[in-house]
Amino acid sequence: TGGRIEPVTREELAQHNRVDDAWVAIRGRVFNVTHYMDFHPGGVDELMRGVGRDATKLFEEIHAWVNYPQLLNKCYIGQLKDNASGTS
Ligand code: HEM
Repeated sequence: TGGRIEPVTREELAQHNRVDDAWVAIRGRVFNVTHYMDFHPGGVDELMRGVGRDATKLFEEIHAWVNYPQLLNKCYIGQLKDNASGTS
């Protein structure tokens, strides 16, 4: 899946921080986990800790081995804009 062309800024990511509108960034890619929420084996509250932001560290602390690109294949939105470089 390609996702959208425009990368997602951190400001936009931060706006999707609710249980009914939940985006997370993992390893530079942004996913809409709204519909995955009720299926997360770790529960809603745990997954909510990572929404609206870069959840890479949380994700890797708990289950770095989980195959999220496959699980969230249809939930892929696009790349997270790397503010540091300013070009992507
Ligand atoms: C458990 C998927 C994000 C916290 C799990 C499991 C899966 C999963 C498949 C079951 C692991 C097992 O079989 O033992 C995902 C996916 C995520 C995600 C696809 C993508 C967004 C997160 C985040 C957090 C989190 C951001 C925490 C901030 C947990 C916890 C468990 C868990 C606490 C329970 C671990 C255990 O019982 O040993 N998750 N997770 N997950 N997840 Fe996630």
